[in-house]
Amino acid sequence: MKKEDRIVTSLMLKEDEEKTLRPQRLTEYIGQKDIKEMLDIYIKAATKRSETIDHILFYGPPGLGKTTLAQIVANEMNVSIKITSGPAIERSGDLAAILTSLNPGDVLFIDEIHRLPRIVEEVLYAAMEDYVIDILIGKDAQTRSIRIDLPPFTLIGATTRFGDLSAPLRERFGVVMRLGFYNQDELSQIVRRTAGVYETVIAEKAVIELAKRSRGTPRIANRLFRRVRDFAEIIGDGKITLKVTNHALGKLGISDSGLDHTDKRYLKAIIEKFDGGPVGIESVSASIGEEPTTVEDVYEPYLLQEGFIKRTARGRVALEKSYQLLNIKYFKGLFEE
Ligand code: ADE
Repeated sequence: MKKEDRIVTSLMLKEDEEKTLRPQRLTEYIGQKDIKEMLDIYIKAATKRSETIDHILFYGPPGLGKTTLAQIVANEMNVSIKITSGPAIERSGDLAAILTSLNPGDVLFIDEIHRLPRIVEEVLYAAMEDYVIDILIGKDAQTRSIRIDLPPFTLIGATTRFGDLSAPLRERFGVVMRLGFYNQDELSQIVRRTAGVYETVIAEKAVIELAKRSRGTPRIANRLFRRVRDFAEIIGDGKITLKVTNHALGKLGISDSGLDHTDKRYLKAIIEKFDGGPVGIESVSASIGEEPTTVEDVYEPYLLQEGFIKRTARGRVALEKSYQLLNIKYFKGLFEE
């Protein structure tokens, strides 16, 4: 296989599940209403003018549908998509190989774009702006720069860390969109859709329970759905009832609010090891054996939104809701600033 083919996958989804689970069209996509409305306009405008759609940056916590939206943009524009990620592109030559293999109008999706090596990122600037790349060939005195023209293309970048993107890269995206957590109604619709795809019977109360315990995240809703379905098939008659759902989620250590073992370990560490905070991200992450970036990107956004913690200038503080969750007595004001 050529190197560029290893770096890029033309989204080869597993035939059975993912393919049918991911919505293929904007109208099938549930939630992110504002984003859908705007994308619909940009897609229609670009199609009307027979142009490529402007470069798009999606950012937000993992599992909210950034890749799915990129795929949908390509489908709606009737073009192919090539999918890669920041850390997979190690050299400028890797990027050049990918860009020169695109057909006019294609979408190049770069996940975790904040992790592109700086030297590669710099090659991307001219590619985005003028559809050209300048690469240096040869060594020392023989070094010369050659310019390669590229077909017009759309870059779709995705990141969980908007703040880690350099200003020059950020500024080259014509469209920047932030994905937020899904509400319960949206997650319920997603769970019903997933049940339909799997041809599984699910009680409405089970749908709501799953939606409630999915941390506002479709990927988690679908993952929990699959686990609950396993339980339903083995300990029940295959139908997903509320009882099976509660039993399975209990076994998986998912609390009523949807928090999992790591969320709880994190909150417990702030409260028990750091007196409720404020505590710096490095200290609390080290105490639970997780990378600070993982804690910041994966765990904290939902805990912040739901009011389990707050961020202060001096670090993270556990709020009353965390004490209630963990059944620890809360002394109001004692640890407040
Ligand atoms: N499956 C996962 N996320 C989805 C979404 N936002 N809409 C429809 N189905 C989904």
